[in-house]
Amino acid sequence: MTALFPNYQRFNFEIISGQGVTLTDETGKKYLDLTSGIGVCNLGYNHPIIKQAVQKQLDLVWHTSNLYQSSLQEKVATALIQGTDKKVFFCNSGTEANEAALKLARKATGKTKILAFDHSFHGRTYGALSATDNSAIKAGFGPLVPDFEFAKYNDFASLNAITTDLAAVILEVIQGEGGLVAADGKWLKAVEKKCHENGVLLIIDEVQTGMGRTGKLFSYQLFDLDPDIMTLAKGLANGIPVGAMIGKEKLAAAFGPGSHGSTFGGNPLAMASAAEVLQIMDQKFLDNVTQKADFCWYYLQKEIAVLPMVEAITGHGLMIGIHLDPKIPVGQVIAQLQQAGVLTLSSRGNTLRLLPPLVITGSEIMTGINQIKQVLEQMTVLK
Ligand SMILES: Cc1ncc(COP(=O)(O)O)c(C=O)c1O
Repeated sequence: MTALFPNYQRFNFEIISGQGVTLTDETGKKYLDLTSGIGVCNLGYNHPIIKQAVQKQLDLVWHTSNLYQSSLQEKVATALIQGTDKKVFFCNSGTEANEAALKLARKATGKTKILAFDHSFHGRTYGALSATDNSAIKAGFGPLVPDFEFAKYNDFASLNAITTDLAAVILEVIQGEGGLVAADGKWLKAVEKKCHENGVLLIIDEVQTGMGRTGKLFSYQLFDLDPDIMTLAKGLANGIPVGAMIGKEKLAAAFGPGSHGSTFGGNPLAMASAAEVLQIMDQKFLDNVTQKADFCWYYLQKEIAVLPMVEAITGHGLMIGIHLDPKIPVGQVIAQLQQAGVLTLSSRGNTLRLLPPLVITGSEIMTGINQIKQVLEQMTVLK
């Protein structure tokens, strides 16, 4: 019996502790984690610097309110805007960050229409869900927010949908829930140009792609984009709930006092953690992620891409989708990998998704990939 709503389909074990890239369940069984808690614990578990910063803040105060000044929020915001002319709003999750972005876009432009793309995922509150192209998770919750439209991702014909009557275009540079589809750089640049020409704000959702996952702090930096608004959450505080909406200074007037808010947004524990996360993720750290990702892709091509049941491997950096033949159900692969002591995720289609902590080593990457190979090969034998 459970006292919880059945909205999550849970595996029948519980993670009770973690260290580095290793998680331990209630029986003492250890797992190599290739999930980061769905792209959250990018610096792994029990990171000493993060833990110390959160513990120090815990001893001072763990909640005040946004009625008072916050030097911690200022510190994190300053690190996020990296010397650019931008402002930051803190909240508690990715969906809240997108909700703030959509509200800001409507208020700042005085327009209501939002363009999103097929297979997008932006969250589950009404605004974010309205920008999400997944009929299964929308079912039964209508009517959603009006004036949301969808166009085809990565398709130049979709540029025709970017017209002056739009408030904003919202997109992910790599669709995480949507099957690890990476956007084409030229298409992204063309979308940005069309937005600028038509007075349409470009919102980039970096909730899953951000915080070092692609070897850049934010994935839009891979393509030298200049979003008007960006949203973050997941990895920003390495597991302490947080979200952030970062927008150009010119939009600030639309978010004047009382226009938007959050009781918990910018919580001191989350900010103490985020400040350290951002300090750790310097250029050297990010270059190291790129090197590891290059090795990971090399090894994936060598060991996994050649397997008969693997249709394609997509994604970028340490955000990876292994697309499997429908005869090998990804749910079974995940279960077998759990038995073998490796945690993985799924994504749209029959896709095995890997989001390892960015602190994973080369030899841990090899261990994980070798296990995946072994499980996939065994499953073919069973078929
Ligand atoms: C791209 C993207 N946007 C938004 C969200 C929603 O974030 P949250 O679950 O923190 O509300 C997610 C979650 O997976 C995501 O991947």
